[in-house]
Amino acid sequence: MYKIFIKRILFLFPPEKAHHFTLFLLKLVLAIPLIGQIFKASFRFKNPKLNKKLFGLDFENPVGLAAGFDKEGLHYRAMSSLGFGFIEVGTVTPKGQLGNPQPRMFRLPKDQGLINRMGFNNEGVDALVERLKNRPKDLIIGGNIGKNKATPNENATDDYVICFEKLFPYVDYFVVNVSSPNTPNLRALQDKEPLTNLLSTLQNLNNEKSAPKPILLKIAPDLNNDQLDDIVDIVNDTKIAGIIATNTTISRENLKESKNSIEKIGAGGLSGKPVRQRSTEVIRYLSEKTNGELKIIGVGGISSAADAIEKLNAGASLVQVYTGMIYEGPSLIKNINKAILNHLQKTSS
Ligand SMILES: Cc1cc2nc3c(=O)[nH]c(=O)nc-3n(C[C@H](O)[C@H](O)[C@H](O)COP(=O)(O)O)c2cc1C
Repeated sequence: MYKIFIKRILFLFPPEKAHHFTLFLLKLVLAIPLIGQIFKASFRFKNPKLNKKLFGLDFENPVGLAAGFDKEGLHYRAMSSLGFGFIEVGTVTPKGQLGNPQPRMFRLPKDQGLINRMGFNNEGVDALVERLKNRPKDLIIGGNIGKNKATPNENATDDYVICFEKLFPYVDYFVVNVSSPNTPNLRALQDKEPLTNLLSTLQNLNNEKSAPKPILLKIAPDLNNDQLDDIVDIVNDTKIAGIIATNTTISRENLKESKNSIEKIGAGGLSGKPVRQRSTEVIRYLSEKTNGELKIIGVGGISSAADAIEKLNAGASLVQVYTGMIYEGPSLIKNINKAILNHLQKTSS
């Protein structure tokens, strides 16, 4: 139904408009009592064997919504009714900012990918906090935090600290995003010294709390093995809870879309199928390097149940989805969960 009707209509609109329109419709449908219930029942897939305990949190299932889809915390209820086991809101910055001029999201249908240069468009952390005040307690929500474009890297830690402190009572885990390609110089914060400083500052504040929360680091797929080795050292030194691998890539290799149309799109992070393999390689490298000790959330190019299982086999404990859902529709989440259950039953017998 999604691929035959809905996607065809949505793909007639520019991607950002289609995104907002879909979420508007979803909210509308869910507000109609009986239809909302039927809708939820048909997308959710529950089974106690899918429950996962990680970072001290109880996940109903291991499939989450990746950051950037609900940057503003406006749609976490609607998205959870599609069957996600956890939702990551953000990236949020201390002050609201417009992000880059539109158009800033582009489809690559031949590659089943997207290029985006949103640039952390969001209304700021205070607005997000307001929207999370009445959040359901049985849904796991992560807060993905970043810095404002106008904040120089020397002062970046202040921005992350503001977001961390303000969001602390309202989210279950944190993600430190230093890997978006769309904020100038942000990725330089992945270097060993600034990253160690940033994460130890946050972790020290965290440890002063009566109940510290898991802090994860989200990394780019474009890091080389030396840089990944540094990441492992930093995780060990700062004792953060884990890694989200990966964000979008700046690479434009092996695309089916013409060079010309890719050049026309210009700068941005590439997601979806083209990033799948590299993202899995990063997960595998980190997992092998740490003898499976590092806790990893795998994200990047999951557009089928097999892609999700590939990430789990490479060393991820949970997965997240964004672009795959745009191409495959929301039933992807249920399909992945069903396949993971099958996989668990096969591997345990
Ligand atoms: C339009 C768009 C906006 C995104 N915004 C963010 C963001 O604000 N913060 C972040 O950490 N990742 C962001 N991402 C990256 C995704 O969370 C994810 O890491 C990446 O897209 C790879 O997964 P996918 O192939 O399933 O899309 C964004 C991705 C897309 C496509």
